[in-house]
Amino acid sequence: MIKAIPFALLLLLTSWQVTAMADAADSVKSPLGYGSKNYVWGKMTREQADILRLTGDAKRGKEAFRGCRGCHKADAAGIVDGTYPRLTGQHPSVVIKQVTEVRAGVRINPKMDPFAAEHAVSKQEIADISVYLATLETTRENGKGPDDLSAKGKAVYKKHHCAKCHGDNGEGEEAKAFPAVAAQHYGYLLREMRHIKDGTRGNSHPEMVKVIKPLTYNDLEAVADYLSRLPDYRLATKGDKK
Ligand code: HEC
Ligand code: HEC
Repeated sequence: MIKAIPFALLLLLTSWQVTAMADAADSVKSPLGYGSKNYVWGKMTREQADILRLTGDAKRGKEAFRGCRGCHKADAAGIVDGTYPRLTGQHPSVVIKQVTEVRAGVRINPKMDPFAAEHAVSKQEIADISVYLATLETTRENGKGPDDLSAKGKAVYKKHHCAKCHGDNGEGEEAKAFPAVAAQHYGYLLREMRHIKDGTRGNSHPEMVKVIKPLTYNDLEAVADYLSRLPDYRLATKGDKK
C-alpha cells in the first residue's frame, strides 16, 4: 500500500492537471477569491504541482499529522457528528487539493486555516500526510443519519449520475482528485452538499454544482444517509475482487 502511493502521485501529473501546467504561474501567495470567477476547477496551482512531484512518506506523515489531531483526532477518523471529517483512506490527491485550497483561501475553512498555513505545514509535509492518511484503516463507527433513508438516497445518487465521479461504491477517483464519500460522517456530507448547493464551499466541480443545485433538502439528507451507510470503499473493492 505504502509503496503504491508514490506511483499514484506521479500518475496525477498526467491526469488531474488537465489545463494546469500551462498556467502554473498561479501562486498560493495570491489566493483566488472565495467563489471567484478566477477559480477554474482542475487548473492546478504551482504549489499543487510541486507537491504532486514530491514522494510522500507515511512515517514522516504520521509525525506531521500531529498538528491536525486536535480536530481530526489521533486516528484521523474525525468526529461522529461530522464537525470534523474522517480523513482515513481519503485519496492523496484529494487531501493535497483540499489542504492547499484551504490555505489559498479558495475553500473557506476559517477553523483549519491557521493549521494549514505555510508556516504550519510544508509542501513536503502535505505530501507525507496525504500518503499517511491513505494507509490508515478506519476502526471507529462513523456518523449515520437519524433515519435510514438509504433506499431513497441510493436512487437520488443513481438518477443524478453522482457515480460518474464518486463511483458505484462511493470510492471517488485518485487520478482526478474526486473524493471518496463512502462511510464519511453524515453531518459532514450533508453540510458539504448544502455548501456546494448554495455556493459557499468555494472549490466545487462545476458539473457537480449543476447536479446538486436542483436537489431538495430531503434529497440531500437521503444521499448523505446513503453514503454514510456504505462500507469503506476499500472493503467494498476487496469484496468485489473475490
Ligand atoms: C482547528 C480544527 C482543524 C485542524 C487543526 C485541522 N483541520 Fe482539517 N478540517 C477542519 C474542518 C472544520 C474541516 C471541514 C470544513 C468544512 O466543513 O468544509 C476540515 C476539512 C479537512 C479536509 C477536507 C476533507 C474532505 O473530505 O474534503 C482535509 C483534507 C483536512 N481537513 C486536512 C487537515 C490536515 C492535513 C490538517 C493538519 C495540517 C488539518 N486538517 C487540521 C478542521 C481542522
Ligand atoms: C463531475 C464530477 C462530479 C460529479 C458528477 C459529482 N461530484 Fe461530488 N465532488 C466532486 C469533486 C471534485 C469534489 C471535491 C470538491 C472539489 O474539489 O471540487 C466533490 C465533493 C463532493 C462532496 C464533499 C466530499 C468531501 O469529502 O468534502 C460530496 C458529499 C459530494 N461531492 C456528493 C456528490 C453527489 C451527491 C453528487 C450527485 C448529485 C455528486 N457529488 C456529483 C466531483 C463530482
